Amino acid sequence: MSGEFQLEVRGVGKSFGELDVLRDVDLAVRPGEFAAVIGPSGSGKSTLFNIVSGLDRPTSGEVRVDGQVAFMPQKDLLFPWRTVLDNTALGLEAQGVRRREARRRAAGLFEAFGLDGFQSSYPFQLSGGMRQRAALLRTVVLERPVLLLDEPFGALDSLTRTEMQLWLADVWQRYRWTVVLVTHDIREAVLLADTVHVLSPRPASVVKRIEVPLPRPRRAEAVTEPEFAAVERRVLDARNWAVR
Ligand SMILES: Nc1ncnc2c1ncn2[C@@H]1O[C@H](COP(=O)(O)OP(=O)(O)O)[C@@H](O)[C@H]1O
Ligand SMILES: [Mg+2]
Repeated sequence: MSGEFQLEVRGVGKSFGELDVLRDVDLAVRPGEFAAVIGPSGSGKSTLFNIVSGLDRPTSGEVRVDGQVAFMPQKDLLFPWRTVLDNTALGLEAQGVRRREARRRAAGLFEAFGLDGFQSSYPFQLSGGMRQRAALLRTVVLERPVLLLDEPFGALDSLTRTEMQLWLADVWQRYRWTVVLVTHDIREAVLLADTVHVLSPRPASVVKRIEVPLPRPRRAEAVTEPEFAAVERRVLDARNWAVR
């Protein structure tokens, strides 16, 4: 690996029997970059993440990752019978970290994740946004260099969603993980990312890589500015071109 990129997906194809889901996907992400991959439902986004995280194999092409990835799957549920702290320590425990140490490390992130005071609560006692932050904490505490987020805000109402997006932008500025976020929401992609990678419909390939030159930190008002609309427009044009 060149060292220039932390993650490189080269010419990746994936078929399930007769169904071609990915075709010749290229994606390169630099260390500390926040990349968004945007595509409609069913275009193969989760399939791509399963391949990047090593859960599934590509039919063709290759994936190179500098270090390990932490993957937050699209349906990353908390166990209802475990406390929030025990849920967030689960990923570390699964890696063989001793329970006490896993809990200590997870507990250290509660404040930054807006969950302080809820260590001993159960998931049903949390709001939707808090549950989502807990699931993200469980992923982040693994301290892997690359973070894969599969539509993390898909199930939230739109106000909570905006709040969570701004919160993620803040914690990302603080920790500077290399992030790849898949979403079908253009506004979310532009609000959060340094680069937006636009997928074609199935079989998916990356038809365009668009830089988002908007200053950070980005606030809620950013979405009303003409510069923001201009980037959204470029993403939309790339997508429409791909659909044609
Ligand atoms: N294990 C599998 N076996 C067969 N088909 C699959 C499998 N996983 C995904 N697919 C199909 O691949 C397509 C892309 O799915 P997915 O990657 O989940 O899309 P997205 O995440 O973009 O909504 C869908 O048509 C889905 O039904
Ligand atoms: Mg998906």
